[in-house]
Amino acid sequence: MENQTYNYAIVRSFVTWSMIWGLVAVLVGVIVSLQMVNPDLNFPPYLTFGRLRPVHTNAGIYGWGIGVIFAAFYYIVQRLCKVPIWSDKLAKFQLWLFNATITASAVTLLLGYTTSKEYHEMEWPIDVMVVILWVAFSINIIMTILKRKEEQMYISLWYMMAAIVGVAILYLVNSAAVPVSFFKSYSAYAGTNDANVQWWFGHNAVAMVLTAPFLGMFYYFLPKTTGVPIFSHRLSITAFWSLIFMYLWTGAHHLLWTPVPDWIQTLAMGFSIMLIAPSWGSVFNGYLSMNGQWHQMRENYLVKFLILGITFYGLQTLQGPMQAIRTFSAFIHYTDWVPAHIHMGTMGWVSMICFASIYYLIPRIYGRELYSIPLADLHFWLTLVGQLIWSISLWIAGVLQAGMWNAMNSDGSLTYTFMETMVEMYPYWWARVLGGVIYMAGLVIFIYNIYMSVKKGEPTAVPTITTEGRA
Ligand code: HEM
Ligand code: HEM
Repeated sequence: MENQTYNYAIVRSFVTWSMIWGLVAVLVGVIVSLQMVNPDLNFPPYLTFGRLRPVHTNAGIYGWGIGVIFAAFYYIVQRLCKVPIWSDKLAKFQLWLFNATITASAVTLLLGYTTSKEYHEMEWPIDVMVVILWVAFSINIIMTILKRKEEQMYISLWYMMAAIVGVAILYLVNSAAVPVSFFKSYSAYAGTNDANVQWWFGHNAVAMVLTAPFLGMFYYFLPKTTGVPIFSHRLSITAFWSLIFMYLWTGAHHLLWTPVPDWIQTLAMGFSIMLIAPSWGSVFNGYLSMNGQWHQMRENYLVKFLILGITFYGLQTLQGPMQAIRTFSAFIHYTDWVPAHIHMGTMGWVSMICFASIYYLIPRIYGRELYSIPLADLHFWLTLVGQLIWSISLWIAGVLQAGMWNAMNSDGSLTYTFMETMVEMYPYWWARVLGGVIYMAGLVIFIYNIYMSVKKGEPTAVPTITTEGRA
């Protein structure tokens, strides 16, 4: 029986805001996918593909992904440490700064201010906001861990700390720039160094934002949901340290066949292939934790989200290393294959874990049962089908595109003009619109289900005790 008071109010706020930013991200995703099939849907200067695309990516990764990370971490850290968060005021400040930062990012991107570094497009004043935000979050989490009453540190706390330290280092190094006005700065690095630092940041953003925190959440929510412990704590720790060590060397796999020195590219290729082992360490740990529990895949909607999520993570971490091999990269780089890889990761792995986390949290932070399990099941299927249509059609498009670009006549001239290869893409881009709309329908149903749970859900058997806003 619960006898400790925790701050769940902050978890509720982050859940709400992450869902709002998630909806914005997906809506803009559908809009940009429509712009690709119908260029008349570009409305210059503000609502063009070039400006909306970074709004989509940043709202998706930072608004939705990081919003859920904040919510889940604030819940998990209190439960695993058996103490309330260190400072309620700091957490509230962080919430406001988080929303201010995402809003300022969206507005400045639409106005055309950009550093042009992917996933780090925002100009320097927003970098300053991000740094303050991350410091506030880090202090709160680290102080809570230091003040913990539970001596043993469960694996999720290790992933949490890796993400905190990792993001701080990456962001600071890649932000180094010389401001020339309030909205313009120049990178402190030049030429290939700039590219190298940018993609060291870029791929480790995948590691520290789109991987480590979600593995931490998976390791916490899976055993909680199934009711049986994780298969091997030792495997989880071994996989953790090797994952963190290996990721840091892989960034240059984004720069194969470029003027970046060959040995750096080869190093990145080697470490990317080695990454299969620690990634699959966690996948196997998840699967083996299901021993004797596979029937829950039928009976428990949460397990479905978690296991499909880790499955897409497993597929993603096999496909990624393949893309990091020079010869394979030469074929698929610049093609639509790459966005398909990304969306298996973001719509499959990351979002499935986000959905599972929020479904798990709602009864615990509001003291109300989920409004409708059939709607949650429907949401699961729409997410899965929408994502599969998105990814599979774009993989096919990518292979077709690469084949056409490479095709040559016997005299050495190109068989197809660039325009001919573009025209071939239309059916696949339409399929992406369809997949996106199906996925968005699932998201709307999810948000409705959560809203109705809070408003009309049956009270849970065990009341929720919070330090603020008692349930
Ligand atoms: C073993 C793990 C992984 C490896 C080795 C890997 C490898 C790669 C490679 C080589 C590329 C570049 C493709 C190209 O442009 O030619 C790429 C792109 C990308 N991957 Fe992965 N990947 C891995 C896991 C993941 C995961 C789990 C996610 C999570 C969502 C992810 C998200 C991305 C993103 C966002 C990009 C696009 C970067 C850009 O904008 O160019 N990857 N990955
Ligand atoms: C209905 C769902 C979605 C749709 C329709 C959609 C659509 C798109 C489109 C059309 C692009 C541009 C691709 C290109 O430039 O060729 C894109 C890029 C991207 N989206 Fe999404 N998206 C969706 C969901 C998400 C989610 C949930 C996330 C993150 C959590 C996300 C993250 C990204 C990223 C990182 C890129 C950059 C890809 C690259 O560099 O190649 N997307 N998306």
